[in-house]
Order: sequence, then structure tokens, then C-alpha cells
Amino acid sequence: MTVKVSVIGLGYLGATHAVAMVELGHDVIGIEPDQIKLESLRNGILPFHEPGLGSALTRAIASGRLKFSSSHNQESAAAEIHFICVGTPQKPGSAAADTSYVMAAAKDLAKWVSKTAVVAGKSTVPVGTAKLLRDSMSEIAGFNIHLAWNPEFLREGTALEDSLRPDRLVIGAWEEYSVERLKAVYKPILDLGTPFLALDVPTAELVKVAANAFLATKISFINAMAEVAEVSGGDAVALAKAIGYDERIGNKFLRTGIGFGGGCLPKDIRGFVARAEELGVGSAVEFLRHIDAINLRRRDKVVELAKVELGNLHGKRITMLGISFKPDSDDLRDSPALEISQRLTAAGATVTVHDPVSLDALSSRSPELNREGDLVEAMREADLTILGTEWKLYREADPHLLGSLVATKTVIDGRNVLDVPAWQKAGWKVIALGRSIVNG
Ligand code: UGA
Repeated sequence: MTVKVSVIGLGYLGATHAVAMVELGHDVIGIEPDQIKLESLRNGILPFHEPGLGSALTRAIASGRLKFSSSHNQESAAAEIHFICVGTPQKPGSAAADTSYVMAAAKDLAKWVSKTAVVAGKSTVPVGTAKLLRDSMSEIAGFNIHLAWNPEFLREGTALEDSLRPDRLVIGAWEEYSVERLKAVYKPILDLGTPFLALDVPTAELVKVAANAFLATKISFINAMAEVAEVSGGDAVALAKAIGYDERIGNKFLRTGIGFGGGCLPKDIRGFVARAEELGVGSAVEFLRHIDAINLRRRDKVVELAKVELGNLHGKRITMLGISFKPDSDDLRDSPALEISQRLTAAGATVTVHDPVSLDALSSRSPELNREGDLVEAMREADLTILGTEWKLYREADPHLLGSLVATKTVIDGRNVLDVPAWQKAGWKVIALGRSIVNG
């Protein structure tokens, strides 16, 4: 059954969701006030890098089922389901999430929404936000809005696949009506046997932040072990493998390195602590402060290792391989590789960045960093190379070939993805985070 839906906010989440809704057979109107972003999408060009999403966007536009508007109109008002997908970034100067965009989008929608429509929030919000939105929207609309919370668990790099084949579908609602309407929209996904959970609204809000908090904890746990391994002659990569065989622990999300970044994990754990404090239970998630601190210490460690290797960094040339927060993405938000590059530059080094897709995004963000699109050129004159993002290109690079072309064969593997024996055999000095292997 085709459902008319509106998707409000066409950033990473919204653009992916709008395209996914078309793939499921629905008629979609995407609302995005940013004219540049809107025009780009209208022309079938994604304003960010996401494998597979660009071609799906082209398909969606060609099907005539995806339309765009900079604001609500009669057509969007006719939608049966409105998905709110606007961002909730970290508030400047605070750990808390900024819910002002979600609130503004909800209040604006309240002037247009019909009595029978369902409003489904997908943004990651502090627990309690949905109730505030419902109250405020209902007051503006003059009737009780059917509001539900429907968190999204997509990962950058596999966003469309995660939307179409999620691990689970979560809907938090006050009324059965909203659940049924949303189940109809997601029918093709439910028909695949996807686990479905109808929850109360606060739990649905919490599922998302709890999941991200757990993921962040796994990464910082192994990075804490890395700190111990580094001073005891141990190897955190081997340790992760060994503990991961225990099914209760599992081997996923235990990759040790320079830690987590991006627009989600760091701000979500900080926002969670801030919200828990507001609720008077800050001590319950106090440990997340340590998770954050362990994560940030990995960045300090790389700067420290560069200083140990090169001495005073003034005038030293350092090449950063990969600048996005993870591979298959050009997202630079809270990227560990970016922060390390900025700190090395501040300490006097000249940093050249190579990245297969993120150099354009970098130019407006950090103009003090040199950008080089050719891998060998980027590395040729470097006194030290740092692998900051584990793009396939670097994982599969030929250490013999690179070694024959560069001046200094020293690399810090910030993601523990290089084949250390092969690189050592090719004469490289490999400094691996969390491992005791150093010399070539
Ligand atoms: C994360 C969650 O994984 C998604 O489930 C969630 O939907 C999303 O946030 C969100 O809140 O919207 P994402 O930010 O795309 O997704 O990236 P992740 O794959 O979680 O990676 C986060 C960071 O952790 C990256 O910097 C990555 O390099 C790092 N990481 C990941 C590690 O350092 N070690 C690991 O073992 C795994």
C-alpha cells in the first residue's frame, strides 16, 4: 500500500530516509529549508558521500515519487505520516543536545498537520523530548497530535542498507493508532521478518542513546586495554581477538585505535550524561565521562608518539592518511584524524592530508592543512605518516612500492589495519597503537 509521507530535514538521516521510503513504494515529499542542499538533492546530487545512496536518489527522482520543497505546502500537509529527521547537535559550550531544531520543525509542522496524520520523530533526542513536542504541537494545532518515536539506527557508509534492512524496528507511541499506521509504512521491512518492538515513548527515545552509549563503551573499553598493553608489552589487537571469542563479549566494535568520532557517538554520550543529570541520576551514567575521556586520550597518544618519533615538531612534515571519522564517509564531525592533524599543526608541524573523498569538505573546515589528492605525492616528503582512517586504499596499499617512493619509512597505524609483518619486511618502522610492535 502506497502511503503519502513527508520527511522533514534532509541531512544524512532525512535524505536517506526519504530515499528509503520511495524504495518501499511510498510517495514522499522532502522538506529542507537550506536552499543549497535542497537544489543539490533536487538535481540528484547528494551533498555528502554515501555509497549506493546517490544512485538510489536518482532512481527515486526518476520514479516521480520523490518531491522536494523548502517549506510545508498543501501537498506536504496531505501526508499521512510526517517523519521529523532534523539534527540534534551538541549545544555550543555545553554537553547537552540542542533540541531547538526539532522543536522548531515540530511547531512549524503543527500549523499544517491533519487530525488523522501521524508525526514520527526519528532524530536522536534526550529522553522526555517527545512529550514536550506533543504538548507544544497539540497546543498550536488545537487537537491532540498523534506523535510517535521511531529511532533510526543507520550507520554512515551503509546508511541505505541499514534503513531498508534494519536489525530491528522500534516504535514508541501513546496510541495503538500511531503504531498501526507506522507498521503499514514499514510493511515491506516487517515482511522480511525484522524484529519489531512497540514500546512506550521514553523507552523508544532511550533505545537510541543507550545503543550508542553501549557501542562507545565497547570501543573505549578496548582502548583502555590498549593503554595498559602499551606499557606492559601486550598487544590490544590480539587481546580483542582473544576475548571476542567469548560469545557474550563478541568481536564486533572492539577495534582498537584512535577511537570514535562522528556526529553521533561523541555527542550522544555527552548529551546522555547531561540529560541524566537533569533528571537527578547523573551518577548512573557518570561512567560515560570516562568513556569520553579514554576516547580523547587516544588522540593525545598519537600527538605524543609523533613527538617521541620526531622530537620538536616545528618544521616537520607529517602526512595524515584519511581525515573523515570513518571510511566510506566524508563526514568530518568530531573526526579523530582531523583533531590530531590540527593539533600537530598547532605544535608546529606541516600536515598534509590525503583522503579519497573528504578533501573538498576539509578545505572549508581546516584551511591550514595541506590537501593532496595523490597518495604518493602526499607521502613522498613526509618525515612521518599517520594512518587516521582505515580506507580500503590504505589497507591494501603495497608497502614495497610506497617504501621505494617515500623519503622516510615510518608510519603510525592509528587504526591497526596494516599488515605489520609485510610493512616491516618492506623496511617500514610501524608504530601501532595499543601494540608493542615498533621496529621495522
Ligand atoms: C553510529 C552507530 O553505530 C549507529 O548505529 C547509529 O545509528 C549512528 O551512530 C547514529 O547515531 O545515527 P556512525 O556514527 O555512522 O554510527 O559510525 P560507527 O560505525 O558507529 O563508528 C563510530 C566511530 O567509532 C568511528 O569513528 C569508527 O572509526 C569508530 N570505531 C568503530 C572504532 O574506533 N572501533 C570500532 O571497533 C568501531
